[in-house]
Amino acid sequence: MNHTPEQLQILLDIATEAAMAAGVVLQNYLGKLEEIEEKGRPGDLVTAADKAAEAEILAVLRRHVPDHQILAEESGQLGDKSSEYLWAIDPLDGTTNYAHQYPFFSASVGLIIGGVSTVGVVFDPFHNELFRAARGLGATRNRRPIGVSKTTQLSKSLLVSGFAYDRRETSDNNYAEFCHLTHLTQGVRRSGSASLDLCHVAMGRLDGYWERGLSPWDVAAGVVIVEEAGGRVTAYDTSPLAIASGRILATNGHIHDSLSTELLQVPSMAAWSSDVVKNSV
Ligand code: IPD
Ligand code: CA
Ligand code: CA
Repeated sequence: MNHTPEQLQILLDIATEAAMAAGVVLQNYLGKLEEIEEKGRPGDLVTAADKAAEAEILAVLRRHVPDHQILAEESGQLGDKSSEYLWAIDPLDGTTNYAHQYPFFSASVGLIIGGVSTVGVVFDPFHNELFRAARGLGATRNRRPIGVSKTTQLSKSLLVSGFAYDRRETSDNNYAEFCHLTHLTQGVRRSGSASLDLCHVAMGRLDGYWERGLSPWDVAAGVVIVEEAGGRVTAYDTSPLAIASGRILATNGHIHDSLSTELLQVPSMAAWSSDVVKNSV
């Protein structure tokens, strides 16, 4: 489905209104939470701030695009399932950070059209950073153009990753990958907000990001922001990204193939005994 720049701009402005309305709620609740619930898995938290921020986003979308489909982290699937337009929203990405008042969290509003991440807005209200992109219109931070880093070597790169809430239930938990890449690079950060991790790759603050166990609302906005900033986003093996797979590899483009190669040949956790580690550095 083709859209004119004017049509995309309208959708981008709707996403911006929604993400910023959520951001106001997040700032208001910060440090004032009375109750923090676990959603099922240990560590998977939900707060009044997640719910109130989601309500703000839903109100904006219902006002402007009542016939579109919505996938919202706290409310699930809403709206017309036959619509080509799917809004994937995470009202508070980084809930664990937020609950501890660790200032790395955001509201993320992405629009997938015909299966393609097309519009994305991620708002970090604590640092007042607004990341936006629409396909073909470029990516911005606080309305100024942004671009990915120029780092070409994995050994000179700074990466980021994360661990899903099922990490205690599966050996496919990203621990071995994290160790392996920590050895090969200048560092791997675990910041705790997938959407902001992607924006920091788009800004060139980080050179690459990978993670498994994600949901569409974690990455729908960030994918288009990275790509419009000149980066590359694929599956781990560099095949086209399948958002429903929950696995993503996003980089500045230059280190993409080498990071993919390393992710596909990670030594098992058993290899991380102190002897092996000692001999490999
Ligand atoms: C989480 C964050 C985190 C990532 C987890 C996500 P939430 O989202 O994005 O960085 O590692 O996989 O579930 O629960 O804070 O919205
Ligand atoms: Ca999330
Ligand atoms: Ca969330």
